[in-house]
Amino acid sequence: MPAPNPSSNGAERHRAAELRQLLQRAAHAYYVLDAPVMEDPVYDRLYRELLELESSFPELIRPDSPTRRVGGEPAEGFTSVEHRIGLLSLDNAFSLEELEAWYARLLKVLDRTPEPGAPLPPLAMVGELKIDGNALALSYQHGVLVRAATRGDSERGEEITANVRTIQSVPLRLQINNPPAWTEVRGEALIPDATFAAINAERAARQEALFANPRNACAGTLRQLDPKVVAARRLDFFAYTLHLPDGWQPGEGDPARPTSQWASLQWLQAAGFRVNPNAELLPSLAAVEGFFVQWEEQRKSLDYATDGVVVKLDDLRLQADAGFTQKAPRWAIALKYPAEEAPSKLLRLVAQVGRTGVITPVAEFEPVPLAGTSVSRATLHNADRLAELDLHAGDTIVVRKAGEIIPEVVRVLAELRPPGAAPLQLPSSCPECGSALVREEGEAATRCVNSSCPAILRGALRHWVSKGAMDVDGLGAKLVEQLVDRGLVRSIADLYRLDAALLASLERMGETSATNLVAALETSKQQPWHRQLYGLGIHHVGAVNAKALARAFPSAETLGMAAAEQPEVITAVFGIGGEIAESLRQWFATAANGALLAELQALGIPLAAAEGEQGVEGEGGGPGGAGHLSGQTFVLTGTLPSLSRSQAQALIEAAGGKVSGSVSKKTSYVVAGAEAGSKLAKAEGLGVPVLDEAGLRALMAIGP
Ligand code: IVH
Repeated sequence: MPAPNPSSNGAERHRAAELRQLLQRAAHAYYVLDAPVMEDPVYDRLYRELLELESSFPELIRPDSPTRRVGGEPAEGFTSVEHRIGLLSLDNAFSLEELEAWYARLLKVLDRTPEPGAPLPPLAMVGELKIDGNALALSYQHGVLVRAATRGDSERGEEITANVRTIQSVPLRLQINNPPAWTEVRGEALIPDATFAAINAERAARQEALFANPRNACAGTLRQLDPKVVAARRLDFFAYTLHLPDGWQPGEGDPARPTSQWASLQWLQAAGFRVNPNAELLPSLAAVEGFFVQWEEQRKSLDYATDGVVVKLDDLRLQADAGFTQKAPRWAIALKYPAEEAPSKLLRLVAQVGRTGVITPVAEFEPVPLAGTSVSRATLHNADRLAELDLHAGDTIVVRKAGEIIPEVVRVLAELRPPGAAPLQLPSSCPECGSALVREEGEAATRCVNSSCPAILRGALRHWVSKGAMDVDGLGAKLVEQLVDRGLVRSIADLYRLDAALLASLERMGETSATNLVAALETSKQQPWHRQLYGLGIHHVGAVNAKALARAFPSAETLGMAAAEQPEVITAVFGIGGEIAESLRQWFATAANGALLAELQALGIPLAAAEGEQGVEGEGGGPGGAGHLSGQTFVLTGTLPSLSRSQAQALIEAAGGKVSGSVSKKTSYVVAGAEAGSKLAKAEGLGVPVLDEAGLRALMAIGP
């Protein structure tokens, strides 16, 4: 019979409470105030201490413990819940004139319209940025977060508490001494632009469908069934509305009950929320206009999207007097910046075939000026998005180009659709080679899987000669197209068979450029091995992975052998996971790829590290970075608890170290496991430092 769990004593209870408070304060300082009060390793140690206490004494677990942000199993789905107070929308104004008209209406309902000719009486207002995220309703009971819901249809939303708990800037407990019986907080969840770019880059690398913009990424994340995925996406939250029960009075040290929007923001901040720091208390309509004009440009330097400013009457009593229309408060208005969006007429839908065969639906439309350029093509991202838009021939579409973001089709103006217009779909066969397109279960991408498809070949050639790969100058898209269309180049290897006379006979090629290109191709044979590997365009092997792999495996041959027979040696390389190992296995198992490697080698591309090719250029030392063990020699002896000999070797080599068979005075470290023999004794005799597996991992700065 298992021993009953000992229960915690007073000291442990006390320590757990102390740790919860310390960690809460530290997280608040870090995520809300942007002013860290402790170093990451200190935080991690305290966090682990609390986690250990809680796992030894589960009765010490509290729902608001910082260790409980991510917990539980993925949900089956979401339930619909009724909001305590409806989440209304805002009326919009698109110009300062419309803002002035709103103000005049507001004065009228408040019975403050001046005599004709008299100046408008000033009312204090709060100017806030209108954050382009997703509205959330948070419910606290006696200060503890009990429920979070999406806006939904304003009356009912979806309950997404587990996901919202992972947002570090949402307090799990209000920092209020006398917490109200209930508190409703509204605000905007968002994904910062930089995080959005990183999420899409990862999705692109995995050939998953891209999110159209940060708001969609945020909405998609909030509806994720697995809170762990949500936690990894690092959402943020700005609180802007506070509802308190009638009669609540503050405890000692608590902020007073707010009587204005401005004080509400301060109350929220004191309670532990992140409040947007750019809100301003504005004394008059003129000041509101100044605020709007000031942020029109300034908002572009923020790292999250905003589409206007929200103007709110400051005094809560006056707000109550002004009341609501059917769908929005009369006391607030959203003043929108002109969108970088424009309507256009759809001309056709084309399917673009990427380097890896992925099909991207692209809309071609009548050119429109947008954000300073003329735009006539925009991506529809993928088949799901295409289905969602429900495009028909001749549709009027709305196109957007925001900042650096590539043009996209945002929506269809279905009311302008010509009668009888046919719905548009992606073709079922590849527009380039005619072979049937494939969409695998659970994959967003539709692809052409014919490896000799000219579009894939063009993509493969352009990738091989690109800057990060073989860096061949003078082989632009147009030339690649000619070479493929005329059947002059059927593989990467054929590039090295081109002669200057033939090249010179092509359109827009002179003798000089032809000779230069042949010379550039010749020089490219000297590129380091990791660039050659990257250039092959193997799925999941981007520039970074190619460097790590090229360090651990000095040639295509050794890499191919490991891929076929020892995937565990591949996954022992820092940063390389099972998906990459599997992709390598498939690539090397494909006969056509084997033939390509043989041809390239015969043409003088070594597909291996050159003699003396040490490491990878442009990489620094830091722990965990590739190359930080360069110049150090390791000897392995005995059996390590979790790494096999070859995994340990691959790890060391991936970090730039060498593994040798015998111990000498020059050996940097001996890594010893169980039943280590004479090598360990020799190391001790020579004073060579000895590491166990944990020591090796620590040296490489990687976890178990
Ligand atoms: S106040 C009744 N303040 O804009 C009060 N909303 O177009 C309504 N939004 O659903 C909300 N930033 O999702 C408010 N500072 C801000 C906001 C904001 C963004 C969103 C919110 C709302 C939508 C209305």
